[in-house]
Amino acid sequence: MESQIKIFQEKIQQSLLGGGHKRIENQHNKKKLTARERVLYLLDEGSFEEIGALVTHRTKDFGMENQKIYGDGVITGYGTINGRLVYIFAQDFTVFGGSLSETHAEKICKIMDMALDVGAPVIGLNDSGGARIQEGVRSLGGYADIFYRNVQASGVIPQISAIMGPCAGGAVYSPAITDFTMMVQDTSYMFVTGPNVVKTVTNEEVTSEELGGASTHSTKSGVAHTVSANDVDCLEDIKKLLSYIPQNNKEKPKKIPYTLQDEMREELMNIIPDSSAKPYDMHEVIQHIIDPDSWFEIHKDHAENIIVGFARLAGKSIGIIANNPMYLAGVLDVNSSKKAARFVRFCDCFNIPMLVLEDVPGFLPGTDQEWNGIIVHGAKLLYAFSEATVPRITVITRKAYGGAYDVMNSKHIKADLNFAWPTAEIAVMGAKGAAEIIFKKEISEAENPEAKWKEKEAEYADLFANPYSAAERGFIDEVILPKETRRKLIKGFAMLENKKVNLPDRKHGNIPL
Ligand code: HXC
Repeated sequence: MESQIKIFQEKIQQSLLGGGHKRIENQHNKKKLTARERVLYLLDEGSFEEIGALVTHRTKDFGMENQKIYGDGVITGYGTINGRLVYIFAQDFTVFGGSLSETHAEKICKIMDMALDVGAPVIGLNDSGGARIQEGVRSLGGYADIFYRNVQASGVIPQISAIMGPCAGGAVYSPAITDFTMMVQDTSYMFVTGPNVVKTVTNEEVTSEELGGASTHSTKSGVAHTVSANDVDCLEDIKKLLSYIPQNNKEKPKKIPYTLQDEMREELMNIIPDSSAKPYDMHEVIQHIIDPDSWFEIHKDHAENIIVGFARLAGKSIGIIANNPMYLAGVLDVNSSKKAARFVRFCDCFNIPMLVLEDVPGFLPGTDQEWNGIIVHGAKLLYAFSEATVPRITVITRKAYGGAYDVMNSKHIKADLNFAWPTAEIAVMGAKGAAEIIFKKEISEAENPEAKWKEKEAEYADLFANPYSAAERGFIDEVILPKETRRKLIKGFAMLENKKVNLPDRKHGNIPL
């Protein structure tokens, strides 16, 4: 018995060491934690149970039969985060660069299958050189096995991907299918092909950081949902994100107990500027509506003309979608439509009620937008809201112009409650442009065209630059004072708690992808 226990202990010790001390030191020198350190930091103390610690690859080519490392480059298992069950895999860059072999993929698939059967989130900590080059098609098959499971799990259990090192080739597609891709500044990269291949194929010279660093993906491409300063911050962000999300699509997010207090917020009375041409930051409105310190922004630096993120309102998790007049006047364009649509879909999958704060002058006109398909991308947001069955409340703070009025969770696409502040302007377009078009003849024939234009602009503004025309028709349920907004929302979401809507019987809709 003693000798058998010794053998067992030696094997476990070897498995704990991954690629060995030298490679661990290299990992630390790059300001990265090892896979095991990450897992242990993320999960509640003592909760991690490893599965498959003694798995090795089966490759015999290229002398690989002599290079077997227990775990085969990925640590898999389950544990808890703040008491909640999660499944986890963490790629170990110290073992063959975290590259994905057939057995490495099998380990990931095993815990994904369990997570789906049990109904708990999967968290992937990615740090990988992509397909294990020595394994050829077996590795590609392994990736596809993971992709397939990502898709089966989509909308059933939350899937969170942290990118904590290089992720090349196949390594980027699994994160792209999951719900959230969280990158680490300066130490993580994502690209389909790296700078060397880019140079060979397109003759373009680009650094890894420019091509696929966290800054690139959090601003330009929108591939990254969040960026953290380092590994520890990223792991903390995962914990925070998870706190807004339920275990699976059959559950609701966990509520923090809350006792109603004086919910009036006088500060909201002073945010909207006197001139409707002046910008203001919608973040300020959000901060005065939500519970203190409860904001978690998604896609913060990408398409800043729309804000999306999670918050708590009276202890309940909500998703917020808000135009931000501070950037491009809060206009809807290709990127903001895609960003918001994806977020709306996530909230709806996982029973997270949605609050829309609206101040939008319409869709952005021009060749750039048209040629990049604003029609189809704008339609994504329209489709996503129209199909969402979770409680949905809209507050129009100022402009709700044109098609954007319809798109931004209007009554007509089955929002539950639509409020407007007295500063709301609900019209086909701004008064100036409207007057120019419908009174073109009168203006051009007037003795003083400029004065006439002003007069007609005022006439149109009187009629439509307010919430009352919409309220008279019931398109707005109530015009409310800004200071009452938090109270109205708390009561509204409580009233909608048990909302149930059945969608038409169909295989699935055909969202304009
Ligand atoms: C096997 C790999 C590997 C891989 C790295 N290693 N990538 N082993 N297969 N794909 C090993 C190295 O041999 C080395 O082993 C160790 O990992 C660390 O790698 P380094 O190159 O020394 O590290 P670094 O300088 O930090 O560079 C990391 C890297 C680079 C940027 C990831 O290694 C790299 O470019 N790798 C190849 C990336 C790639 O092209 N992957 C295939 C993508 S195609 P030792 O023993 O020295 O420690 C793909 C297709 C899937 O994924 C498509 C599905 C849709």
